[in-house]
Amino acid sequence: MPNFKVKKIKDLILPFKKDEVELEWMAENNNVILIYTKVNEESFFLQVKKEKDSSFVIKGDKHTKPSKIAYLQKSLQIFRDYFCNHEDIINEAFAFKHNALIEKTSLIAYDFDQLLSKIKGKIYIEIGFGSGRHLLYQAKNNPDTLIIGVEIYNPAITQVAKLAKSQNLSNIMLIQSDARLLLSVLESNSVEKIFLHFPVPWDKKPHRRVIAKNFCQECARVLGKNGRFELRTDSYEYFDFTLKQFLHFSTPKFSLRKNEDLEISSKYEDRWKRQNKDIFDLWVWNLDSAYDELNLDDFDFSDMTFNANDLILLEKNFKNLTLKGDDYFLHFENLYQAKEGLIFKIAFGAFNKPEHSYIYVGEKIEFLFKKPFRIKENLKAMEKLKKVLKFHFDTALFS
Ligand SMILES: C[S@@+](CC[C@H](N)C(=O)[O-])C[C@H]1O[C@@H](n2cnc3c(N)ncnc32)[C@H](O)[C@@H]1O
Repeated sequence: MPNFKVKKIKDLILPFKKDEVELEWMAENNNVILIYTKVNEESFFLQVKKEKDSSFVIKGDKHTKPSKIAYLQKSLQIFRDYFCNHEDIINEAFAFKHNALIEKTSLIAYDFDQLLSKIKGKIYIEIGFGSGRHLLYQAKNNPDTLIIGVEIYNPAITQVAKLAKSQNLSNIMLIQSDARLLLSVLESNSVEKIFLHFPVPWDKKPHRRVIAKNFCQECARVLGKNGRFELRTDSYEYFDFTLKQFLHFSTPKFSLRKNEDLEISSKYEDRWKRQNKDIFDLWVWNLDSAYDELNLDDFDFSDMTFNANDLILLEKNFKNLTLKGDDYFLHFENLYQAKEGLIFKIAFGAFNKPEHSYIYVGEKIEFLFKKPFRIKENLKAMEKLKKVLKFHFDTALFS
């Protein structure tokens, strides 16, 4: 992350505009000043952190990073040139090589937003693609389909991105994530095929399997009308377990096969074949949407208003509160004073997919930057947030 350290900074008189960089307004607490910065319609916080030796470190806030690191770099340069004296600079780490990095990584999405923005038309998803042989094969044979590969193991992502590039395949988007989270942010009926090939069987710890009731419900939700889920595994237990999970649907269709050769064989498959293990295929489709039961409202703060007295109480009573529900949490990380309101930095949502947001509370209340994903854990956390704010952090007044 580009940053620099400086002995002192000049008075921050905002708004300030130079070239395409706009430093619009700021919010601060005892340790940090956040500067709301805009470059070409993208907004993020520059962070000025007061160090113990009374110097300042200036960098981008890690939870509001712009899509292009050059935007951040340019903003830091402007800040350095107009709000610092050259002789006060202690050190600088700006170096960002404009080498092949951007090109090299264009097949990788670094967050769900980036991934979702690339989705147009048909999509297949491959979960845990490993060495990527099957994923690359699908991309080659389905040039009109975007093949989304989701892996938790980062080196596999870099490796497969390189292979795809060397094979001139551009209909691929790879993301590092737990597959279960990826499904939860996809639109309903948007996927044609989901491949799960040779998942770790976890025969002794079945609760660690990708396949579970929730996962099957999410498959049913995201798969389109003729969409299909495909499992290929060397584990009979996994095959049987998956079949039983999908049998909970009212009219599922199945295709079951044993020891069928595919045109492409993965590294794992080669290994099991050498050991003469059986290979099982289970295809599932016609999954009813009986599970569309989650009728979620959007994040709605329109019923909340705050007067000057509320803001005084919120500031006075603020604490690093953490609240936990069955499947979600809400943590108040920091509070900053802005000119006409307060800014809360919060972490919240599902335990395995925390979101970090800044919320502005003034006359009205709103998310700064992007809204979080509309998944039920986030919505529950926001309902809790409303209560905390309504009762000015007095947890005795709400459950
Ligand atoms: C046994 S390997 C199989 C790899 C590949 N499908 C093949 O057939 O060669 C299982 C892969 O799934 C990945 N994986 C495990 N759990 C996952 C999850 N929850 N989400 C995404 N990938 C996962 C692992 O990192 C690993 O690469």
